[in-house]
Amino acid sequence: MTHDVLVVGSANADLVVPAERRPGPGETVLGGDTTISPGGKGANTAVAAARLGADVALLGAIGQDPYGAVLTESLRSAGVHTDLVKTVARPTGIAYITVTPDGENSILVSPGANHALEPADLDGALSGVKIMVASMEIPLPTVERAVAAAAEAGVRPLLNLSPAAEVSPATLAALDVLLVNEHEAAWLLGTGVEPEKLLGLGPRSAVVTLGARGALVVTRQGTTEVASPKVEAVDSTGAGDAFTGALTASLAAGASLEAAARRAVRVAAISVTRRGAQPSYPSAAEVPEQA
Ligand code: RIB
Ligand code: NA
Repeated sequence: MTHDVLVVGSANADLVVPAERRPGPGETVLGGDTTISPGGKGANTAVAAARLGADVALLGAIGQDPYGAVLTESLRSAGVHTDLVKTVARPTGIAYITVTPDGENSILVSPGANHALEPADLDGALSGVKIMVASMEIPLPTVERAVAAAAEAGVRPLLNLSPAAEVSPATLAALDVLLVNEHEAAWLLGTGVEPEKLLGLGPRSAVVTLGARGALVVTRQGTTEVASPKVEAVDSTGAGDAFTGALTASLAAGASLEAAARRAVRVAAISVTRRGAQPSYPSAAEVPEQA
């Protein structure tokens, strides 16, 4: 089966604990009740894009445990095709997430099954695909293979470099769009971020997400600021993935990068007003295309 969008990335069960503050080293803090919610950067991206109507498959790996079932169910109910999600003999990835009253989160990820996603899993996965979007939290060789295989097959390769990791110059140079947040951009460029310099690393274009301030779209024609609507944040977990999924969905539907970013900031803004990652992502009806 072929799909417009192939997402290559992680799937995690998010164990979310609300807390007044996060514990320091050697310290114990009592938090609120735990919520188990579907997450993982790859699965989040796929769900965000599918909710907006894109035809999406996820290439991922889960374990044979109840968390894997929760993830599969969330993907399917959003309309994500799961034929390329393999079940392996390792525990499903788990993200231990602390959310504080300001809506900020800190995340410890145990990748488990995500580590079993291999470069060979890309074989045959890109036929008929228009856009391939990868994120980190899976083995680096798999990410690099995904980008290279997409470029070879004439598929637009996008990479959400989150969490930041050292990728090869060849991988960066093969990208149609490099997606980073401010921290990842600073990490890539060193201090004093000049977004234009991201193109010096090789991608055809770049998008820098700025949290509540929106995003920057960087192309050879220049840098455009895209402002975010003002919202009351309760949980920013997975907002970057919502942005990536929404951007990808719009690109797959033929939008320009700037138009795609304009819709993606609206999608990400809605996602931070609700708890969890995937459960907070809006449908197309909530984010109508703007004239
Ligand atoms: O980007 C947010 C995601 O990061 C969470 O859903 C969690 O699973 C971690 O992968
Ligand atoms: Na959210």
